[in-house]
Amino acid sequence: MLLEVKHLNVYYNDKHIVKDVSFDVGKNEIFCIIGESGSGKSTIAKAIMDMIPYQGKITFYGDDIFMIFQNPGNYLDPLFNVYSQILIISKAIKQDVDIDKYIKILNLDPQRLKRAYPHELSGGEQQRVMISMSLARSSELVIADEPTSSLDVLVQKDVLCAFKNMKHYFSTILITHDLSVVELIGDKVLVLKDGITQEIQDVNNFFKSPKSEYGKKLLESFYG
Ligand SMILES: Nc1ncnc2c1ncn2[C@@H]1O[C@H](COP(=O)(O)OP(=O)(O)OP(=O)(O)O)[C@@H](O)[C@H]1O
Ligand SMILES: [Mg+2]
Repeated sequence: MLLEVKHLNVYYNDKHIVKDVSFDVGKNEIFCIIGESGSGKSTIAKAIMDMIPYQGKITFYGDDIFMIFQNPGNYLDPLFNVYSQILIISKAIKQDVDIDKYIKILNLDPQRLKRAYPHELSGGEQQRVMISMSLARSSELVIADEPTSSLDVLVQKDVLCAFKNMKHYFSTILITHDLSVVELIGDKVLVLKDGITQEIQDVNNFFKSPKSEYGKKLLESFYG
């Protein structure tokens, strides 16, 4: 096991947002959190990253968690070439790392990244740069909050497959409101509604037989 979340509760200004959520993330697992807008998905991610106060117990059995957001452009510095930014973020964690290897795994060209500034990359390329950063840091867990919602459909698939192909390197918590993302790359899924866990299941079982009423509804609207 890599991450244990037990009885997580989060309040914003006395408003109860995340309500007694518990789950485990295993090694080499893509753990999806799905739920409608405002259900508390990003709040769970922020609690794991220790960015907000919370109640409950979160235990991480690794050294590094890396977070990837919806708009990678916001997290890359426009004034520095992309290559140097991957290098800096890896050096923060370990010395003498061969970042070219990790850049190439993501189907990016190190030579090009030495010249390119963030605005010269597509959204899909920027997102793959973020994934290469997590490899360069040897992060054991990547939290990806709607990593493909700003991308067009074809590029979305590229980035999602990149996550799937990286399963041997790190575990992923993938936050989405899109069931097709869960179906494509997920191993497990937690269904969240109004901050309450509706069910946690292996993805295959969820698509065959959702346990919760809300899960059933989600699937019905997914299949139309
Ligand atoms: N800093 C904050 N202060 C007060 N309320 C907040 C804060 N951040 C989020 N909220 C509220 O907490 C609830 C959950 O927000 P959260 O961002 O976790 O939802 P989400 O499931 O990630 O939604 P989305 O799919 O739209 O990203 C929402 O009602 C939101 O308005
Ligand atoms: Mg969110």
